[in-house]
Formats: sequence, structure tokens, C-alpha cells
Amino acid sequence: MTEIVTVMPDELHRLIKNKLESAGLRSEQAEEVAKHLVYADACGIHSHGAVRVDYYAERIAKGGITIDPQLKFEKTGPSSAIFHGDNGMGHYVSKLAIEEAIPFAKETGVAVVGVSRMGHSGVLSYYVKKAAENDLICIAMCQSDPMVVPFGGAENYYGTNPIAFSAPRKNGHPFVFDMATTVQAWGKILDARSKNQEIPNTWAVDQAGVPTTDPHDVAGLLPIAGPKGYGLMMMVDILSGMLMGLPFGKHVSSMYDKMNEGRELGQLYILIDPSRFTSLELFKENMEQTFEELHQIKPAEGFDQVYVPGELGQQRYEKYSVEGIPVEQNIYNYLVSETVHFDKYGGLNAFAEKS
Ligand code: NAI
Repeated sequence: MTEIVTVMPDELHRLIKNKLESAGLRSEQAEEVAKHLVYADACGIHSHGAVRVDYYAERIAKGGITIDPQLKFEKTGPSSAIFHGDNGMGHYVSKLAIEEAIPFAKETGVAVVGVSRMGHSGVLSYYVKKAAENDLICIAMCQSDPMVVPFGGAENYYGTNPIAFSAPRKNGHPFVFDMATTVQAWGKILDARSKNQEIPNTWAVDQAGVPTTDPHDVAGLLPIAGPKGYGLMMMVDILSGMLMGLPFGKHVSSMYDKMNEGRELGQLYILIDPSRFTSLELFKENMEQTFEELHQIKPAEGFDQVYVPGELGQQRYEKYSVEGIPVEQNIYNYLVSETVHFDKYGGLNAFAEKS
């Protein structure tokens, strides 16, 4: 069993920021990445929290992140724009991009903003939430490295290509839905490997493209809902990559390969001002009503209640922000150590044990 330590958010933030600065990231950027990773862990999305710091530190130290990126918000039409990321730290680039996209969408009613050439951007809900807090609906999607078989295939082609959606609501927190288009994240397979536990045969395939229950045999992840998830991840790849002339499909850079080069990843935001379609107040009241009606649905056997997507993460965020965030002991040991990174990722393939 992995030991867990409880760390207060401020302390975790300070440790992450220090480590990224030690790797060479500018303070303002390290501040933003630390905020993002603490948010992920506080929501219980541990696959995208502090666990990633040694990887980011290694990529920064080896030159695979532009330390002083030349960022530019370029309007390309009445409601379209590209935010040029210059392979800067993805969390930082993405946060600045959504901050530019929000006033643009307020002005135009609808805005489509591509983020071009960036590093890994973490949890998409972090960004779409900002739009909903500004009374906008937002859809975000991004590319990730190829580790998923297309439906019926025995070779990887797409990434776990996530989609997030947010909408404002009258009283409570905005609605925020956020998911990878694979059945399970790679982190869950790693977890099963470490525990030598079987996985359901719906998660992944082996070298021959045959569904496997042995986590050690996994050579590709499966899309959600077969051909439907495959179609969705293709849509994400087209809209967040091909649309901006970026590498697509199996040509998207690998997370662990070429640690000294930028990832050239793409992301897309679609923002909609509901007040251009109905009264904003009515929209937000209707969102409130939907939440209430969903909560009143009779729970199925084995369930305590129906939750709206995003609610359980929000509950964890509120609890952990006060009581402290659970962090694996080995991650904590690294964060408080003098080690900047372990020089372990370069050249590994996506399914390597050490990832
Ligand atoms: P997940 O499977 O944990 O959750 C998916 C959605 O289901 C969430 O909106 C969650 O709130 C909702 N949900 C979970 N349990 C629920 C319940 N009982 N009732 C109602 N709704 C429920 O998420 P997944 O697919 O593992 O993705 C994790 C994160 O990884 C996401 O934040 C995603 O943006 C991020 N990601 C980022 C990538 C990148 O390259 N930047 C690549 C892939 C994923």
C-alpha cells in the first residue's frame, strides 16, 4: 500500500512552485502551474496534480519548454482568434489564452479561439470554469500523445483527447463536465500494475489489439463507447490540431520523447454568451432547476443519490482545501528533497513502467 500524507494547499503550492523554479521556470509561470496542480489534487484528479512535477521539471530542465515564450493573441476574424503559445508551459499558456478569450466572447457573442503550439495543459475544467464564472458557456478540447487504438485497430493512433464543458448557474458553482475520451486514464492502469490487480477487459488492449485484463500487457487504451468515443477523439484531434495546421493523430508528439523539444500541441476553446440567445437570468435559473431536478431523481440500487458531473470534484475541493490534500508519500518526499528531477523520462514510450 502506498503511504499517504496530508498536505495543506498553501504548503503544496509552495513546494511545487519551488521545484519548478529550481528546474528553471520563471516565477510567474511556476506560480500559475502550482495553482493548477494544487487545484487538480484538491478536486481528487491526482493523475494531473503533484504526481506530474518531476516530469515537468525534467522537461523544463532539458529545454522542452520555452522559458520566455513570445505569446500573442491574434484575431483572425470577427469571432475567431489564435493564441500563439510558442511551446511555453501549457498551464500558463492556456490560462492566458482563456483570459483573452473571455472578453473577446463578451464582445462578439461567440468566440472560437485556438491555442497553437503549447506544452501539456493538465485539467481542462480549470480553464472552462473561468469562462462560466464570467457568465459564458465554454467547450474546450485538446490533443494528447498517441496511446489509444482506433475502434477495430491494433495500433495506437489518437491520444486520450479530453473534452470539457461549462455553463453558468444562478446560485451554486457553475456546471463543469470534463473527461478524457478513453474508458480509463493511463494512471489507472499504472495503479493496477503496481497492485498486480486485473483490470476490466473494457479498458485496454494488448499488442495484438485484443482486450486484456492483465495491466502489464497493455499496449493501447480503448476509446469510450467503442466507435462513438473513437469518433469523438477524432473530432477533438481535428478541431484542436488539424484546424491550426498542427501535427495530428499519430504525429502528435509523445509526452516522454524528445524532452528537449517543444510539444507543438493544440487546444480549442468555443465560448458562447447565453445572453445572445435568451435572457441570461432565465438561462441561469433553468440551469439551477436542472440541478435540482437531477438531485431529486430516485437513486438506482447501490447509489446514494444522482450527482451532476463536476459536483463530487467540487465537494472534494471544499473538503481538502480545509482539511489538507492527500499526497503520496514518495511524491511528497521528492517535493521536499533537493532533487530537481530523476532524469527518467527521456525516450520512454507512453506505456513504459516508469511513467
Ligand atoms: P473522470 O472519469 O474522473 O470524470 C469524468 C466526468 O465524470 C467528470 O466530469 C466527473 O465529474 C464526472 N463524474 C464522475 N463520477 C460521477 C458521478 N458519480 N456522477 C456524475 N458525474 C460523475 O475523468 P477522466 O476522464 O479520468 O479525466 C481526468 C482529467 O484528465 C480531466 O480533467 C481531463 O481534462 C484531464 N486530461 C487531460 C489531458 C491533457 O492532455 N491535458 C488528457 C486526458 C485527460
